[in-house]
Amino acid sequence: MENVFWWKGSVEIPTEGSFIQLNQDKTITVPDNPIIPFILGDGIGPEITPEMIKVVNASVEKIYGNSKKIYWVEVLAGDKAEENGLDRMPKETLDLLKQSIVSIKGPLGTPVGKGGKSLNAILRQSMDFYSAIRPVFYMGQPSPIPNPERVNVTVFRENSDDVYMAIEYMPKSEGAKKVREFFIKEMNVSEYAIPEDAGITVKPMSEFKTKRHVRKAFRYALENGKKHIAIAGKGNIMKATEGSFINWAFEVAQEDEFKGKIITEGEPQEGQARIYKVITDQMLMQLVLKPEYYDVIITQNLNGDYISDLASALVGGPGFVPSGNIGDGYALFESTHGTANDIAGKKVANPLSIILSGAMMLEYLNWKEASKVIYQAVKKVINAGKGTPDIASGFRKMGLSSTELTTSEFGDEIVKEIKNL
Ligand code: NAI
Repeated sequence: MENVFWWKGSVEIPTEGSFIQLNQDKTITVPDNPIIPFILGDGIGPEITPEMIKVVNASVEKIYGNSKKIYWVEVLAGDKAEENGLDRMPKETLDLLKQSIVSIKGPLGTPVGKGGKSLNAILRQSMDFYSAIRPVFYMGQPSPIPNPERVNVTVFRENSDDVYMAIEYMPKSEGAKKVREFFIKEMNVSEYAIPEDAGITVKPMSEFKTKRHVRKAFRYALENGKKHIAIAGKGNIMKATEGSFINWAFEVAQEDEFKGKIITEGEPQEGQARIYKVITDQMLMQLVLKPEYYDVIITQNLNGDYISDLASALVGGPGFVPSGNIGDGYALFESTHGTANDIAGKKVANPLSIILSGAMMLEYLNWKEASKVIYQAVKKVINAGKGTPDIASGFRKMGLSSTELTTSEFGDEIVKEIKNL
């Protein structure tokens, strides 16, 4: 692939490519020849990421011929960076991701027992990707529920607040002792509530961070004709945090931009969406029983983690859904599963999550026609019973015939279908 610039001792910036521009109003201007950096990823990353590039290239060529072309630039992170004597998240990588505005990555492992911050956390914080967006929809793959075509929900998980800020005090540590003493002596908290041997995790949630996330989700719902938006949280128990989150979401609906468009009562009409307040545990149950009730779910960081995985499970698991981390213009798309070390190198990894993340990236670039052909081609291949062993065995369990493909054969089939469309 002549438009892929692999890392060869350093990053190679193609002279034929141009950088995406971030405008003052946080929108982006995309040239016809954008430079998009990619991180191969660890474990199965080197097997699945090239499939995504292959499929995205085919879709762009199909729709735009030679008038648009992505210039892919490999940047290192994780195992490959370490093997080349670099930090697991080299500064050179972070700098190019920032300069390029939009990028994509395979899964990155967090080595157990080596210490150091998770690479995903470094990435998310470095460009303030405050919304994690996971669209979950069904394409014909084996699924654990009846009529999975009822599932078509986009989960907006706040990505910069909540217990993930790692303000934590281990049981019996100096920190825990100090915090406990403060609560008991200064804040009238009972000893029953914080026993001497308690670990303490702090859960901050701010109006600024919540509202910018909610605005993004409202804009998405309106642009995509989504009618029903659930604001999920346990505001009944955590009034100061999740309760405030829900109240702030309703306040955003009153802002000039959304007045008359985001409604709180009645049936939404053309150009409108309605918001509902839902309690997370109730909603998780409803999501399994009546997934068709949910178009968009807006939630906090921890709840979002649970909700997006459950939603993904309804359509066969995280291997079938894409994901995007979006900030003010900056965007990083990624596969939702981990490095799957148990199957790495065996040519059996399912590349769909990163391929669909590539399609989601094309939508973000506003190259929507190209992303559409990826979804169409993937649907065709799956509905013909073809796929990697996880998909093929699922079909067999349902008593259906199937064709088992390797990772790259699966990518080839999708490319073939794109060309045939
Ligand atoms: P995992 O997702 O890597 O694996 C869980 C199970 O699902 C394994 O049996 C694996 O073989 C299977 N699986 C995952 N992706 C698959 C695919 N594409 N095709 C076929 N089978 C697949 O989760 P695990 O084992 O908890 O995590 C492994 C490593 O990945 C850890 O270091 C973790 O920190 C990292 N991780 C990275 C993420 C990221 O970069 N966004 C997300 C989740 C985990």
